[in-house]
Amino acid sequence: MPDLSHRRADFPILHQQVGGHPLIYLDSAASSQKPRQVIDALVRYYERDNANVHRGLHELSNRATEQFEAVRAKVARFIGAASADEVIFTRGTTEGVNLVAQVWASHFLRPGDVIVSTGMEHHSNLVPWQLAAERCGAVVKYVPVLEDGTLDLAALRALLEEGSVKLLTCVHVSNSLGTINPVAQICAWARALGITTLVDGAQAVGHMPVDVQAIGCDFYVFSGHKICAPTGIGVLYGRAEVLANMPPWHGGGEMIDSVTLEGSTYKQAPARFEAGTPDIAGVIGLGAAIDYLEGIGIEVIHAHGQELIQATLQKLQTVPGLRVLGPPPPVQRGSLAAFSLACAHPHDLVEYANTKGLALRGGHHCTQPLMRRFGVVGTSRASFYLYNTHAEADRLVEVLHQAVKFFS
Ligand SMILES: Cc1ncc(COP(=O)(O)O)c(C=O)c1O
Repeated sequence: MPDLSHRRADFPILHQQVGGHPLIYLDSAASSQKPRQVIDALVRYYERDNANVHRGLHELSNRATEQFEAVRAKVARFIGAASADEVIFTRGTTEGVNLVAQVWASHFLRPGDVIVSTGMEHHSNLVPWQLAAERCGAVVKYVPVLEDGTLDLAALRALLEEGSVKLLTCVHVSNSLGTINPVAQICAWARALGITTLVDGAQAVGHMPVDVQAIGCDFYVFSGHKICAPTGIGVLYGRAEVLANMPPWHGGGEMIDSVTLEGSTYKQAPARFEAGTPDIAGVIGLGAAIDYLEGIGIEVIHAHGQELIQATLQKLQTVPGLRVLGPPPPVQRGSLAAFSLACAHPHDLVEYANTKGLALRGGHHCTQPLMRRFGVVGTSRASFYLYNTHAEADRLVEVLHQAVKFFS
């Protein structure tokens, strides 16, 4: 296993005690911690270069604009986009989905059209489509999730072939199951039928190599805060031809070519979709986060996450009454495990773990339909990132054994 333990020194927040125990942060699927390199980049930007982008002719504005646009190009390379113009900065995954569900859907969906989604989507890739369907008179149909936590791909194909399907959306890596969906295969099926595709990459980017052209999707969304960048910044990738046919979203400064009192004309993507002053510092932080991750190597981070989760899944089998959702080992999955314990409600278990210094997450993880599918009110979830160690995973299993004794 790649030894990344020396990287823990980069994360100041990890070096503290909680409840008299060393903090063990196992909630990175909700939000990752930030390395010193990203924090320093933000401080440097505010101390030296802070100014509004694009519209200035002075030194600071030029510097800020240069850095801002350099990150756009960096993101494009990081996710394999054909051009920086295909990278739209958003506030996060949720905003990216909403942009497409409002702009693309309102423009292209007609009454009776079908949106195909899946039973394992995060609410942020589910509710926007329900709203879009309501607005346009379209229908959302869902691909069922099988008992092993994978998608029913035969049902997915059958749904796509029913006709009237205009858009297919699915999560790349499930935040509640860890399932890695075969998105390239799914998008190829959709593309052959002329169906537009959106992939939710919130749990994939920064954990595994992602190449949007190899996936062959039309849209791909992710959040910066889950990959060591600040909160409030995210990315919507849109294929150039698809973006070119979309009207603007928000109106305001920066997205126009010319404005008269009678009407306006609009810039091309990405400016067309970025009205107003953007989160400049967030973009600079995202660039620093990508530099940081690439400095380690995404393949290395992926291998680390795989070894950690596979070893943890084996050890979790020793905990009496513990049920893990999602694909069983040795199937590759995201570096997270959501589980329920027969003797304790997830909230009680997470509070108990907190008294031992462990940061877990308990609840429905914004996937209520999925929880219903598996007959649970919620689960407790441990999620890893590059700074977690085998010793921390062992401590998790030890605390779960103690919890079983405590709650029984
Ligand atoms: C799979 C998935 N999609 C979407 C989101 C929403 O991300 P954000 O809240 O950063 O917009 C999350 C967050 O947990 C997620 O895990």
